[in-house]
Amino acid sequence: MTISKKIAEFMNRSSWIRKMFEEGGRLKAEHGADKVFDFSLGNPNLEPPEQFNQILQKVIQEKGWHGYMPQAGYGHVREKIAGFIKKDQGVDVSANDIVMTCGAAGALNVVLKAVLDPGDEVLSPAPCFVEYLFYADNHGGVFKSVTTRDDFKLDLDAMSEAITEKTKVVLINSPNNPTGQVYSKASLDALGQLLRTKSDAYQKTIYLVADEPYRKIIFDDIEIPSIFDSYTDSLLVTSHSKDISIPGERIGFALVGPEAKYRKDLINAMALTNRIIGFVNAPALMQRVVAEMQGATVDISQYKRKRDLLCDGLRESGYDFTTPPGAFYLFPKTPIPDDVAFVKALQEELILVVPGSGFMGPGHFRIAFCVDDDTIVKAMPGFKKVMTKFSQI
Ligand SMILES: Cc1ncc(COP(=O)(O)O)c(C=O)c1O
Repeated sequence: MTISKKIAEFMNRSSWIRKMFEEGGRLKAEHGADKVFDFSLGNPNLEPPEQFNQILQKVIQEKGWHGYMPQAGYGHVREKIAGFIKKDQGVDVSANDIVMTCGAAGALNVVLKAVLDPGDEVLSPAPCFVEYLFYADNHGGVFKSVTTRDDFKLDLDAMSEAITEKTKVVLINSPNNPTGQVYSKASLDALGQLLRTKSDAYQKTIYLVADEPYRKIIFDDIEIPSIFDSYTDSLLVTSHSKDISIPGERIGFALVGPEAKYRKDLINAMALTNRIIGFVNAPALMQRVVAEMQGATVDISQYKRKRDLLCDGLRESGYDFTTPPGAFYLFPKTPIPDDVAFVKALQEELILVVPGSGFMGPGHFRIAFCVDDDTIVKAMPGFKKVMTKFSQI
């Protein structure tokens, strides 16, 4: 074989979303795009806020902004972001605590490369974003999933058992992909306490990395606590892919907790890793645009409407799920243990979703509801038909 054995194996492991994407293409070619109900990708269907286009037009006119820049990104951009985080999370951060990155994916890789030694463990509550496994491996780490409760909230006993002397990073994602679950302040405080105890016991620093690209996509007046209040040796990674609907523009950032023990070392290391992974720096034009859009979001009430439409319809058809308080994913149980077989049955009704196994959450499936309302409404008879069929078995 000409490609690496490890990558060949990873291609196999990560193939679910790709398989759904390919299957979607085939079904759309065969039946027409409007006949296929594609819930497979977390690609936001809402346009960016109008303000985005206006700012883009403005910054595009300015001259002298196309050269190399500081590895961490433009100073004025990081100032603006620090100002927003200060106001939003009440944390005393400065521009020097921030590294601009190519999306949250870039930020995760920058952080993991900065902190991992070969064999270090990265623990994450599952179900989770499957790329975590590959990102940990990119930098010599070993990924370990940790079980969550039935409603996908943190299981601290399971986390406590999973942490070993090799654990370097606990990576959490709230609001969560694929479950939409949000972690409470009390559970984050308890996690922080656990990490302090374990760090002391093993005489090292275990980092808490919070991946928060869905932070602003929340419903029902809930609040997302600041991770830095629960644990000082935390790093926040995020992006504007989902909150202002620009995932293709690849813009995000990583932020080191202002009271982190090795704050300066971390930030210097991350500026270097940003460069040597090959990104060099985050996209210049987008840095200047998002600097002017801190706090802006798409209209979140539209995602709430889609969530309610989907949940009401599926509940009526007998699906069992936890209503997601955030993000734009629903993760129902499959009525049979074989989630792949259930997803295939939905495909026969031209409904594309992803098996939970693709997120280390077997016995479930993920519906990305960042789609037109019409897609949700028209898919309901198909969802009902398949549930009825399996209920009768
Ligand atoms: C949980 C999670 N983390 C990170 C990412 C990557 O985000 P970005 O497109 O900003 O790199 C995604 C994208 O879907 C995600 O769902």
